[in-house]
Amino acid sequence: MTRAWTAKIRAPRLEDAPRLAELSTQLGYPASADEIAGRLSRLLSRAEHLLRVAESPGGEVVGWIHAEERQILESPVWCEIMGLVVDAAHRDRGAGRALVEGVEAWARERGVRTVKVRSNVTREESHPFYLRLGYARSKTQHVYLKSAPRAGPENTTPG
Ligand SMILES: CC(C)(COP(=O)(O)OP(=O)(O)OC[C@H]1O[C@@H](n2cnc3c(N)ncnc32)[C@H](O)[C@@H]1OP(=O)(O)O)[C@@H](O)C(=O)NCCC(=O)NCCS
Repeated sequence: MTRAWTAKIRAPRLEDAPRLAELSTQLGYPASADEIAGRLSRLLSRAEHLLRVAESPGGEVVGWIHAEERQILESPVWCEIMGLVVDAAHRDRGAGRALVEGVEAWARERGVRTVKVRSNVTREESHPFYLRLGYARSKTQHVYLKSAPRAGPENTTPG
């Protein structure tokens, strides 16, 4: 660790949206502050979602995490980390660990025993991080996507 540092973990507020958008862009998901504010307000009203931010001792938001309690037919309920990022300028100071431990505590309080995270193989720093935090790699997947065509002149069927 480069420097001892204690991040304060707290719930995000709507006024954090511009900073959360910057961090989301750093994660590889560019979004405007307005888009993030809209998503944040929807997620904050859903009890099965947890959002937390890490604040530096100087009060700057340096990271965020989003987790969800999930249920599918074939498995018992689990908690999944849906997104996590710590500002590149503030890594290796314990903020990522504090955010993940906050999710683990939330899951325990809800009686949920398993915390899962899917991380792209290209996210090189995330793999030693999760292993260090006690996570074990369980499988490798392919992700398939299919998008509906956009409505517009180029996609209208000739009549
Ligand atoms: C992965 C990420 C969240 C880690 O955040 P961080 O604040 O730097 O992590 P921490 O400082 O809390 O590290 C926790 C532990 O993991 C270790 N660790 C973190 N990154 C590491 C790395 N790249 N290699 C080896 N160990 C690492 C730390 O040394 C620390 O060990 P310790 O607590 O026993 O001293 C951050 O690198 C990041 O945002 N990366 C880009 C986005 C990403 O990959 N997100 C995850 C997608 S699921």
